[in-house]
Amino acid sequence: MAGKLIIIEGGEGSGKSGVVGQLPARFIKLHEPGDSPVGLKIRRLITETRQFEPHPMTELAMFFADRIELWMTKVYPALERGEDVILDRSYPSTFAHQYYTLMGKRDVDLFMSLVHWFGLVDPALLILLDVPAEIGLQRRRRAGSLNKIDRRKIEYHDSVSRGYRYFVRHLHFPAKIIDARRPKDQVFAAVKRLIIDTTKEPF
Ligand SMILES: Nc1ncnc2c1ncn2[C@@H]1O[C@H](COP(=O)(O)OP(=O)(O)OP(=O)(O)O)[C@@H](O)[C@H]1O
Ligand SMILES: [Mg+2]
Repeated sequence: MAGKLIIIEGGEGSGKSGVVGQLPARFIKLHEPGDSPVGLKIRRLITETRQFEPHPMTELAMFFADRIELWMTKVYPALERGEDVILDRSYPSTFAHQYYTLMGKRDVDLFMSLVHWFGLVDPALLILLDVPAEIGLQRRRRAGSLNKIDRRKIEYHDSVSRGYRYFVRHLHFPAKIIDARRPKDQVFAAVKRLIIDTTKEPF
């Protein structure tokens, strides 16, 4: 595939969508969950629907269903056209939330074998915006309403935060952690540098 895939990750309010919004329009920008018609229905079921409390593994499978739909219908066609794709969240979130936190699992290689079994390729780069959960949630509260996952306990979000860092430490593809407590312009400058290092195309 000619195009490069870059995943931007981090907890709630870590600044993912803000950073992606600032990137040039030449990138194909997609987000998980909910960036396909099928995925949007799945996202609404999980994040908005009352009395919908699936088993953790069901929740994990639903996020994979959303992801497979997006990758097959949008991510791969763009990469095959030679375009670079920026993904606002992807399977590292499913690792940190469902696998690490809800299911209490730690086996990154086994998790990645599921990812690969579904035909999802490794990105050229994973960027983790790392911020303490409490700070990210405060930002989200200020910015607007919280969804069902945002409203989970602080212990949940602290564990998700550890889950992301654990994932990055045990990976076999390039990944970088950025301190996202810093002001937005500094975070963006750091992300920009990493993306240019990977694509070799300045912007
Ligand atoms: N470095 C920063 N310093 C202060 N505020 C920030 C910073 N980065 C983002 N914010 C603010 O935090 C809020 C959430 O940012 P943003 O939507 O980009 O995060 P996100 O990671 O996409 O969140 P979510 O996980 O909910 O999608 C916004 O109001 C944004 O302006
Ligand atoms: Mg966002």
